[in-house]
Amino acid sequence: MKILVVGGGGREHALIWKIKQSPLVDKIYCAPGNPGIAGLAECVALAADDIDGLLAFAREKGIDLTVVGPEVPLTMGIVDVFQSARLKIFGPNKAAAQIEGSKGFSKDLMARYDIPTAAYQSFTDRDAAVAYIEEQGAPIVVKADGLAAGKGVIVAMDVEQAVSAVDDIMLDKVFGAAGASVVIEEFMAGEEASFFAFTDGENILPLASSQDHKPVYDDDKGPNTGGMGAYSPAPVVTDEIREQIIEKIVRPTIAGMAKDGCPYVGILYVGLMIKDGMARVVEFNARFGDPEAQPLLVRMKSDIVPVLIECAEGNLTKSELEWHDKAAVCVVMASGGYPGSFEKGLPISGLDDAAKLDDLIVFHAGTVAKGGQVVNNGGRVLGVTGLGDTVASAIEKAYQGVELITWQDVHYRKDIGNKALSR
Ligand code: AMP
Ligand code: GLY
Repeated sequence: MKILVVGGGGREHALIWKIKQSPLVDKIYCAPGNPGIAGLAECVALAADDIDGLLAFAREKGIDLTVVGPEVPLTMGIVDVFQSARLKIFGPNKAAAQIEGSKGFSKDLMARYDIPTAAYQSFTDRDAAVAYIEEQGAPIVVKADGLAAGKGVIVAMDVEQAVSAVDDIMLDKVFGAAGASVVIEEFMAGEEASFFAFTDGENILPLASSQDHKPVYDDDKGPNTGGMGAYSPAPVVTDEIREQIIEKIVRPTIAGMAKDGCPYVGILYVGLMIKDGMARVVEFNARFGDPEAQPLLVRMKSDIVPVLIECAEGNLTKSELEWHDKAAVCVVMASGGYPGSFEKGLPISGLDDAAKLDDLIVFHAGTVAKGGQVVNNGGRVLGVTGLGDTVASAIEKAYQGVELITWQDVHYRKDIGNKALSR
């Protein structure tokens, strides 16, 4: 069969690395892809949000299944467009993708179905938002309602900072239209984890646990990024917590969406805060996590392709996935300056040496080929993913790879996975 993967980051490289191993697959295309993906699939010069272009391409090539990586095409309705054209596609439709595209939508859903999360209120009026913050006090969390590339959340340690966040979002429109309304939320303490489940809209197939590292610097210091590294499994998700996440969060969410006439198909991403044996939802996303997809997919033993097809067809039969016993750790190598501005076009060295290591895979994210070299072209550039018998040995392997690779101003965290070791 022929598969088209939409996107061009580390998540899509990992997806294609996994899809490529399926005996069901003859040919993989990726739009737009990246130089790492180009070794496994045919890259097509179409942007991930060029829905008309992608539809025309899928028709022309007779694509059997399209797999959507990023949230933007999902919230734009790529699934609806492909389905209208009778093309098979994996991901939630536009209505269901609101679970990520609108924080108000997801908070209201959780309230309706008693899904544990932070207390909140939504506001379209600046003064009402400020009055609520003054009444609640700090710490408190301010969120732009719409998509803001992971930057629309401000965890305010005092009332002044929360009010200025509301003004930035609602008056100065620093996140554009995403800030027409804000969600003000209770601050939750605890340890974060990421949990994923495939679903056909009714049945669910949970994945192994994982943990992201959002802040840019070691010890969770500095501004939040898309994720500076991830590992799987995450010991904070004990068997009891896993059961709780599945029964109290994932099942009621999928059942609630179906009951609301808005069934959710694809992979559901649950961002969690875990404290004192209780898991609460920080956010939902409508797609695989990046970088979490990288350690998760290298650990997945089951063929992913039948799962993607069954979800897209609405007949998910599998109820358990098989996993390799090894742990996996992904260290993101980023451009110096990220998540702020950074220089692009800097040549990357050491990729060939890293490719020679066993139990190590270098996934490309923000790279591009230029004059026979691979150069940086985005904030998160590479996801260096190591496998080991324990998280400790997977950490060692990942950093062995990282140490072989460099470019001007490269930045990475040195403590990815350490939270697992402290348990
Ligand atoms: P989100 O985009 O909603 O995942 O938020 C980004 C990050 O902000 C999360 O990964 C958390 O670290 C933090 N965050 C969001 N909401 C809360 C909350 N209610 N309490 C504490 N931290 C939060
Ligand atoms: N790793 C965070 C995200 O994918 O949103």
